[in-house]
Amino acid sequence: MPKSQTRTQSLASTISQSTAEISKYLVTEGLPDLSFAAEAPSILILPPHLQIARAELLSATSELHDLIKGPLGYLIGLTSPTHNILASLHFINRYQIALKIKLDEEISYEALAQECDVQVNDIRRLLRLAIAFHVFEEKSNGLIGHSAVSRCMIDMPLVNSWIGHFCDEVWPAASKTVEALSTWPVSEEPNETAFALTNSSNQSLFESLQQAPANAERFTNGMKFLQSAPEFSVSHLLKDLQWETENSPKRLVDIGGADGSIATAILRQFPTMTAVVQDLPNVIETATVAQDLEGRLEFRNHDMFSQQTVEDVDVYFLRSTLHDWSDKYCIAILRNLIPALKNGAKIIVNDVCMPEPNVLSPSQNQLLRLAHPQFSIVTYTLTH
Ligand SMILES: C[S@@+](CC[C@H](N)C(=O)[O-])C[C@H]1O[C@@H](n2cnc3c(N)ncnc32)[C@H](O)[C@@H]1O
Repeated sequence: MPKSQTRTQSLASTISQSTAEISKYLVTEGLPDLSFAAEAPSILILPPHLQIARAELLSATSELHDLIKGPLGYLIGLTSPTHNILASLHFINRYQIALKIKLDEEISYEALAQECDVQVNDIRRLLRLAIAFHVFEEKSNGLIGHSAVSRCMIDMPLVNSWIGHFCDEVWPAASKTVEALSTWPVSEEPNETAFALTNSSNQSLFESLQQAPANAERFTNGMKFLQSAPEFSVSHLLKDLQWETENSPKRLVDIGGADGSIATAILRQFPTMTAVVQDLPNVIETATVAQDLEGRLEFRNHDMFSQQTVEDVDVYFLRSTLHDWSDKYCIAILRNLIPALKNGAKIIVNDVCMPEPNVLSPSQNQLLRLAHPQFSIVTYTLTH
């Protein structure tokens, strides 16, 4: 980098180079330009050789955007009412507005208000806020239709479960984080959290879900949706499970395995393996075995805070399960496996690791640091 180049110039050239690489790929492959128009593809799939360009572009655009505001402008930006976009998404989710607008249709705020049985001024205000963030489009004055973003809520129904869980259960709890930390400064208990304060319930998230079947199903579907995000795709796990097909473990138990979608993917990759998915009763009762896995996959009620009951197992598997619990409870979950462990049995933990600062790119770092309090202090357990 020439010495005379400023940081902003350096970021701008990264942006220019990475954009050129990605645009060249789109043009060469005859793919549509990037857009939020309703007909645009919902997911931007780039080949592995462009993943670095994409990560650099995200980091550089984000840093340049922040820098150019100046430190005070940036700070005020953090406190500016961007959280209100969540109020708008909450409203859209509560009234399932995306599903009330057909693709290729334009509808007036008045007609939509009538269908949702809400005030027209409220729906106009909240949808225009969403539109400012690419959710829906106001094509001609007063008529709204889908954008590529709102269309995701039709094409991928599970995204609505994630948004509903996030807006009803996670977001309100986030505002109680500081209060929870001062109320229970050293707690490791799952019912001493921001979530418990929000609900004045003295209950953990999972206890509360057990008493609210619709919310529990929404949570499970929300988790399933997350797996469809490229970052959480089961394909990363399958790539890392480098077992030879004929020498793969014979039997696996997926603890906290929810609807079994991960176990299903593992069994399809390793055809000689069988699996048991364990979870709480409210989760197990709605789970079903795919036709091609009948006889190989089984669901069982099991509370992981009691001793493991399935023995003669090669792999006990925990994906995104330990991150919901403080160290004290993670230790209890793992100790409960000990009596069942046969010689050579393995425990595989497939979860998010929090790296030291300055290891990841700034945008990846922001993403992980934003997710961390949700796991550790907002909805689950206070950990330090
Ligand atoms: C964040 S979800 C992860 C689900 C799944 N492993 C995945 O990767 O998508 C955590 C799971 O742990 C389950 N769980 C919570 N408490 C449990 C308990 N005491 N015993 C067994 N499972 C539990 C929840 O019902 C939920 O399905």
